[in-house]
Amino acid sequence: MTMERIVSAYEKLTDLTEQRPELCVVLGSGLGSYADTMEDAQAIDYLAIPGFPMSTVQGHAGRLVFGKKHGVSVVCMQGRFHCYEGYTAAETVIPLRALIKLGINKLLITNAAGGVNTDFQPGDIMIIEDHINFTFLNPLTGPNVDEFGPRFPDMSYAYDKQLSQGLKDAAGSQGIDIKAGVYAMMAGPSYESPAEIRALRTLGADAVGMSSVPEIIAAAHAGVKSAAISCITNMAAGVLDQPLNHEEVMETGRIAASRIQTVIDGFIQRLA
Ligand code: HPA
Repeated sequence: MTMERIVSAYEKLTDLTEQRPELCVVLGSGLGSYADTMEDAQAIDYLAIPGFPMSTVQGHAGRLVFGKKHGVSVVCMQGRFHCYEGYTAAETVIPLRALIKLGINKLLITNAAGGVNTDFQPGDIMIIEDHINFTFLNPLTGPNVDEFGPRFPDMSYAYDKQLSQGLKDAAGSQGIDIKAGVYAMMAGPSYESPAEIRALRTLGADAVGMSSVPEIIAAAHAGVKSAAISCITNMAAGVLDQPLNHEEVMETGRIAASRIQTVIDGFIQRLA
């Protein structure tokens, strides 16, 4: 039962740290180093937290880093869990829900995504304005945890307008170009077929990835306000006449990382 795992993770966190962050920042592929810039940093390995799944993907360190940025109390998740690793959607959000129990009330998600919108280029940054869940998996499947939220939570405002504006302002003030659009979640781990990408484009997707939507749903369920940014690490399958590979995703993530860190930093500054 995932609720028991959430509670044991939460209880361990209350033992291990006195920090009670207001914001959780989920750092996706190639973006983990942002956590190294925090003050009063306290890192807790996922392996030290009972109830947590374990991370397997290259580029995901697998730890929580508590600390302060611009006077804001923040916890970064360096590494996240994916359904393609074999976890249920509910299991992938155990860390986030433990942090929600610990008191976070805002969430900033980052991820790597393929560009579906042909106006995009690798290295672009996109604010996620909405999503399409093509996995049809849901982290809230199973008995509802009333302590977190209602059985049938609304998703109309899953991406908070004010927080998203904070991302735009943070980018704009630093001269960083920022796109906005719809993120389609696919199950992976294989990348999409070119026909799937054409279908996603027709259906209104601008970017495609294999994460984040369960986290957004779990946050919205609990009344935690979210904003999300995708790093467009590659053009999605079939857009260019060339194969996709994970190294390219990681490399573009590395190149865009400093710009994304600037946006994250400006975003946090605006919360202070
Ligand atoms: N597809 C799915 N997930 C991804 C991609 C992609 O093209 N790039 C980075 N994550």
